[in-house]
Amino acid sequence: MSSLSGRDGPRYKHTASDTGPYETISVEKLTPIIGAEITGVDLGKLVSDNRPNRQVDEIHRALAENLVIFFRDQHITPDQHLAFGRRFGDLHVHPAAPHEGDDPALMKIHADKDSPRANGEGWHSDVSCDVEPPMGSILYIRQSPPQGGDTLFASMYAAYEALSDRMKAYLDGLIALHDGASVYRGLYANYGVADKVSYPQAEHPVLRTHPVTGRKALYVNRGFTRHIIGIPRDESEAMLAYLYQHAENPLFQCRFRWTENAIAFWDNRCTQHRAMWDYWPHTRSGTRVTVKGERPV
Ligand code: SIN
Repeated sequence: MSSLSGRDGPRYKHTASDTGPYETISVEKLTPIIGAEITGVDLGKLVSDNRPNRQVDEIHRALAENLVIFFRDQHITPDQHLAFGRRFGDLHVHPAAPHEGDDPALMKIHADKDSPRANGEGWHSDVSCDVEPPMGSILYIRQSPPQGGDTLFASMYAAYEALSDRMKAYLDGLIALHDGASVYRGLYANYGVADKVSYPQAEHPVLRTHPVTGRKALYVNRGFTRHIIGIPRDESEAMLAYLYQHAENPLFQCRFRWTENAIAFWDNRCTQHRAMWDYWPHTRSGTRVTVKGERPV
């Protein structure tokens, strides 16, 4: 892995974009670059009322400033989980994964001693193969293993900002193909999910601009990106290999240690994440609600 410091100090100098104190929630950063734990909010109570709410606005702001936010000791029903997601937009239905209960927007996240795999084991941004990939994902883990099962999150703003000016210029305007079929075909057979005839596929800019913050982010990931369009295949492979390695620098990351009934809410437009399946034969179980997003630009 390349070093991001030299004789002049760090090559990547993070500048905070925070806009001031919060009034209705407390926000404790995990790192200066990504991640914050939110306290002083009961999400069950918050969603019982559908009126405009200052806490919802501040949660939205905390997400924009920290990219992924965490809530512990939340006791919410599946309906409250769905309702919390709806406070941020319409809900996205996963093109392949099984759901819990009747609502297809309540995605099941589960691994135990009999699982052939666990969700999200490689770095990815959720369903980036969709033409309009999800803006955010809200994962509620009700049962966590005694140790392990952490989720790693990485800032794609930081990954972009740490690129050299020449690399930024090279990538500017390039488009990459993201493909779902190669990921999803057969993936959920153990849950009895039959394959669909087709899965989403989309072309997205390699660099995208976040619609809320206006910041640029790197938008290619090992999970779904297949190749960069309009350049030779060997050049695309070498470039993507470099970008994946660059994006996975621990400097851009935080790591969340789950406790039962914790929630992580991440912004897929400027992060990637990776879940650790290091807890076999223990069980880790919960549900994910995913909020629809817009076409990346
Ligand atoms: C996912 O990719 O949504 C799964 C993340 C996790 O289980 O921590």
